[in-house]
Amino acid sequence: MSKDQGVSRRQFLNYCLTGVGGFLAAGMLAPMIKFAVDPALKKGKAGGNMVPVVDEAVLTGEPSNHGFKYKITDAWLGEQETELTAWIYKEGGQVIALSPICKHLGCTVGWKNDPQKQNRFFCPCHNGLYEKNGKNVPGTPPMNPLDTYQVEVKNGKVYLGLVEPNKIVGGA
Ligand code: FES
Repeated sequence: MSKDQGVSRRQFLNYCLTGVGGFLAAGMLAPMIKFAVDPALKKGKAGGNMVPVVDEAVLTGEPSNHGFKYKITDAWLGEQETELTAWIYKEGGQVIALSPICKHLGCTVGWKNDPQKQNRFFCPCHNGLYEKNGKNVPGTPPMNPLDTYQVEVKNGKVYLGLVEPNKIVGGA
């Protein structure tokens, strides 16, 4: 092979294989990167959509139960609509929305529905108790506070987003 040929056959093959390999790698990595970054690009403070649930004006210091529909995107099933509920109240000018799902084994908690009608959330499955801010009462089965929803108030309307560990009392 003479030097004046410029690119040897071996070099040409190397360039071709590098180009094709890079193209294939980019094709595989792009969906993975999109999957990893996508939740952060969605609406809402910490990812996920925020949906309107209730007018702020109707809320008081007493937790009230509100149902709403929330769309979740599942990798296999696509967009799914699910029905959720939240215990919502106002305290110190702040709107608080608690998940009704008991942190013991997943039953549904109610407000003041225990036999003594205390100012607490009660889970009838195993007598679990939570304070109004969602903190689990020691000596009852739940080991963690009720989760809270992401909350935004816009134009007098309360919007809820994803459930997250209790922000008021520091949940797990
Ligand atoms: S599921 Fe709620 S106390 Fe057990």
